Amino acid sequence: MSSKRKPILNWILFFATIIAVFLLGLLASSITERRAEEVTSNKPMVKLDEWEPRNDVWGKNYPTEYESYMLNNESDFATKYNGNAMIDMLELDPRLVVLWAGYGFSKDYNQGRGHTYAIEDLRNSLRTGGPTGSDDGPMPSTCWTCKSPDVPRVMNEDGVEEFYTGKWSRLGAEIVNPIGCADCHNNETMDLQISRPALVEAYERMGKDINEATHQEMRSLVCAQCHVEYYFDKKRPGAEGSAYLTLPWDKGMSVENMEEYYDAINFKDWTHKLSKAPMLKAQHPGYEVYLTGIHAERGVSCADCHMPYMSEGGKKYTDHHIQSPLNNVENSCMVCHKEKTDQLIRDVYDNQDRTIENRDKLEELIVRAHVEAKTAWDLGANEDQMKDILMDIRHAQWRWDYAAASHGGSFHSPVETGRVIATGITTAQEGRIKLARLLMELGYEGEVPYPDISTKAKAQEFIGLPMDKLNSDKQKFLKNLAPQWDKEAKERESKIPVVYTNN
Ligand code: HEC
Ligand code: HEC
Ligand code: HEC
Ligand code: HEC
Repeated sequence: MSSKRKPILNWILFFATIIAVFLLGLLASSITERRAEEVTSNKPMVKLDEWEPRNDVWGKNYPTEYESYMLNNESDFATKYNGNAMIDMLELDPRLVVLWAGYGFSKDYNQGRGHTYAIEDLRNSLRTGGPTGSDDGPMPSTCWTCKSPDVPRVMNEDGVEEFYTGKWSRLGAEIVNPIGCADCHNNETMDLQISRPALVEAYERMGKDINEATHQEMRSLVCAQCHVEYYFDKKRPGAEGSAYLTLPWDKGMSVENMEEYYDAINFKDWTHKLSKAPMLKAQHPGYEVYLTGIHAERGVSCADCHMPYMSEGGKKYTDHHIQSPLNNVENSCMVCHKEKTDQLIRDVYDNQDRTIENRDKLEELIVRAHVEAKTAWDLGANEDQMKDILMDIRHAQWRWDYAAASHGGSFHSPVETGRVIATGITTAQEGRIKLARLLMELGYEGEVPYPDISTKAKAQEFIGLPMDKLNSDKQKFLKNLAPQWDKEAKERESKIPVVYTNN
């Protein structure tokens, strides 16, 4: 084929093409350079050990995420029922003191705040008592499990069963860094990973492999390492003598499924001080309740709302300030919803108000049941007469606690939360009908009076707690043993080198 164009035009085309290719080449190389720049600025500054528990060391490599993580220290944001401020729940609702009589929570219970406070709050809580050495105090070492990235480190060093053995104070100098990077991330790839054996084991017993979880599921499962119901198994075959952290999911995750699990093994967390009922303490079945809600149903993960994407100077990153999403509705909700901030907040409050109205009613009914049962015992009731009644009290309170302790549950899954509370009300009333009959048989006339528990102090006095002693033991611990733990930990950590890489 011969060109019909003039040769001069061909030459012009030829040179134009060369210039165009040259310019394109320049552009491409400048893009490559820019990308390289970014890689360099993201290049690891330190080598992260597999078990590195120190959040600030990870922070050297990932300063943006670390900065947002440090915002968990904030404690000045309050919503209608939640937020990051310290709230004394027993002061706010003294009925709780009676519901938990005979159990640690009646001494002290504050609403959860930011992850960075996990160690401090556990040490300060009256529930962990005032240990004076490594083998006294009311709590087992297992209590540390959901508080720190030192946990996987010590489990790796000592073994899981050994970790769950002995007193809480045994590990005081080892568990010092609050919840952080190594709890959720692989040190080399930064992929999300499960660091707690209880969740992996629960999956195995359900015939599932957690390694097959999707990326979106992992964005909730990292939270399900801690925000779940659990108990301490003291009879685990081969691990007797330890308080082995176990998730009671073998029969399913609903309030009935877990109740059936506990009933079948005759498990109780404690015996109620007034009613003598064999009680269950729901821990915080946040993940289980979330799973029954519309957002989980539509594939929305915990991280979607509590760790939204942010952008700063054109860089997109995951917000590591894990808090009430109502502090950041724009990033947390408006990715999917078109309503205004005010409307979305109102939706959340409406769900909460409706739930809490019935929850408060249920609390009052169970307080009455405990007090009436005590009256029956005092009048000479026998075990046989009380057996069914005590089981009703156990089941009613379990349902109340399952709903109340699933923090955020009245938003995460309002219908299920309402249903659970409704079954609690029915069960409590059935128990109280039996109690009314029994009290009549025992010759009691009229209504058993509702105690004056209008303040936390009055309620604690009513159940006979020696608050002065508990407080002074705690102060001694904070003055003597706790600083010693910090000193030992500082010495130990100062010997672990931070290895800087050249880049
Ligand atoms: C290693 C255990 C652990 C993991 C993993 C964990 N949490 Fe927590 N979380 C806690 C503890 C413990 C607290 C209470 C800390 C305190 O009050 O001192 C808490 C508190 C919270 C709070 C209350 C914060 C506030 O400002 O009131 C929210 C919200 C929360 N977690 C959400 C999540 C989400 C979402 C995930 C997963 C992305 C997650 N958590 C993973 C243990 C954990
Ligand atoms: C409670 C779990 C949790 C903790 C604790 C945590 N992260 Fe993350 N991190 C996440 C989740 C969820 C993502 C989103 C990952 C995804 O979807 O792939 C993420 C993403 C990241 C990413 C990827 C880039 C980005 O911003 O999306 C980096 C880097 C990171 N985290 C660093 C850290 C550092 C540093 C710490 C400790 C200061 C930390 N993380 C603590 C859960 C956690
Ligand atoms: C990743 C997407 C996504 C995010 C983020 C998200 N939602 Fe939703 N939301 C949905 C979907 C999907 C539904 C179900 C609607 C349907 O299928 O008709 C829903 C339903 C709802 C409903 C009605 C159901 C109910 O439970 O009352 C409310 C209210 C709601 N969302 C509020 C919020 C708020 C508040 C936030 C932020 C804290 C939020 N959503 C974040 C996707 C999202
Ligand atoms: C659709 C968005 C959404 C999803 C998904 C979601 N949450 Fe929430 N969460 C909220 C909202 C809204 C609240 C209520 C905040 C308030 O009252 O201030 C809340 C409350 C909480 C609280 C109590 C907060 C506080 O300040 O004390 C915790 C803890 C929590 N969620 C954990 C989780 C965990 C764990 C998951 C996953 C299993 C999860 N959330 C999934 C939106 C969400």
